[in-house]
Amino acid sequence: MNDALQIAAKTSAQVIGTPQLSVVIPTFNERDNVVTLFRRLEKTLAGIPFEAVFVDDNSPDGTWQVLRELASQDGRVRCIRRIGRRGLSGACIEGILASSAPCAAVIDADLQHDETQLPKMLALIQSGEFDLVVGSRYIEGGSAKSFNRQRAGASALATEVAKRLLRVEVADPMSGFFMIRRDRFEALAPQLSTQGFKILLDVVATAHGALRVKEIPYTFGSRLHGESKLDSMVALDFLGLVLAKLTRDIVSLRFLLFAMVGSLGVVVHFAGLYAALKGFRFPFAEAQAFGAVCAMTSNFILNNFLTYRDQRLKGFAIVRGLLLFYLVCSVGLLANVGVAFSVYDQQPIWWLAGAAGALMGVVWNYAMSGLFVWRKR
Ligand code: GDD
Ligand code: MN
Repeated sequence: MNDALQIAAKTSAQVIGTPQLSVVIPTFNERDNVVTLFRRLEKTLAGIPFEAVFVDDNSPDGTWQVLRELASQDGRVRCIRRIGRRGLSGACIEGILASSAPCAAVIDADLQHDETQLPKMLALIQSGEFDLVVGSRYIEGGSAKSFNRQRAGASALATEVAKRLLRVEVADPMSGFFMIRRDRFEALAPQLSTQGFKILLDVVATAHGALRVKEIPYTFGSRLHGESKLDSMVALDFLGLVLAKLTRDIVSLRFLLFAMVGSLGVVVHFAGLYAALKGFRFPFAEAQAFGAVCAMTSNFILNNFLTYRDQRLKGFAIVRGLLLFYLVCSVGLLANVGVAFSVYDQQPIWWLAGAAGALMGVVWNYAMSGLFVWRKR
């Protein structure tokens, strides 16, 4: 659209009252769905002042460009374009916090959720009786028709785990379709995890039963265009969330993965050491150094693919990251040996000193890697 047209469109845009409802829509590669969704929202929410806040993680398909165009024609539309970040939960949190109506809904962009339920959800919240209304597939009247058996099984299992371990009493805590009172959400927001897929589960678990919840049934439809972003890693994210909530955020999934990768690194170290000594007949010092480089390299690769996959380094940044990682780990090793020595000095118990040193090393490496290697851009 050229400038003159754009200005004309803006001046002719209808004057809208302050929104009563903020609809937050996370998007990643949904360019063919977003306009349809907005048209449907417009239809179903006719008469209700609302705003639609799309949160796009810089989709390669240019979803945000489509949204900018839409926003230039309709003042109710906004698009937050996030650079260098990925993640459904984080996108939803950011969208809710960037909006301002007293109620916020989260709905998928791919038309799998039933937007016609929104007025009913809003009425339930506005009645003052409920803080949270959940679109549920697992109560009478709801269903997930489009699920294959595998996905249905996984979903049922995750739901059971969540209910038992986190004592969540919602029938469908894995739903991505819900509406919440802003004041309640703002209070919980600082404790929510931005990693992962399960924002509703996080909200419910973090609230520890303090929210008055109502579930309403809906049918989870099939996707029109594009494809699902759920991959096998989602299971990992889910376990991480359960773990974090169980330990009241003391143990994070990232730290656990980092420590696991580190333990695997010990195995790689010994394999490298053995190969260098026996295979290449290196002298011990060189063989030990070779083992350490092998371990650091494999740790870096695994961390880049697993621990920090939402911030994965690509292209030239990999080389820079690897060199920084070597540096961080070398200092970590010094810290490890230093702590082990001083513990051993006080109490000559080899395993205690060794464990203290190793813990120091992993905490150091974790903290420094987060600061320098995979730092948030
Ligand atoms: N901004 C952003 N960033 N949006 C994302 C990301 C991301 O990294 N990943 C996915 N989305 C958006 C998609 O564009 C879509 O609008 C919505 O989040 C849901 O993603 P899908 O890829 O369509 O997920 P799904 O259909 O497999 O999963 C849905 O069903 C689950 C219930 O089983 C989602 O609604 C989940 O939230 C829900 O838990
Ligand atoms: Mn979907």
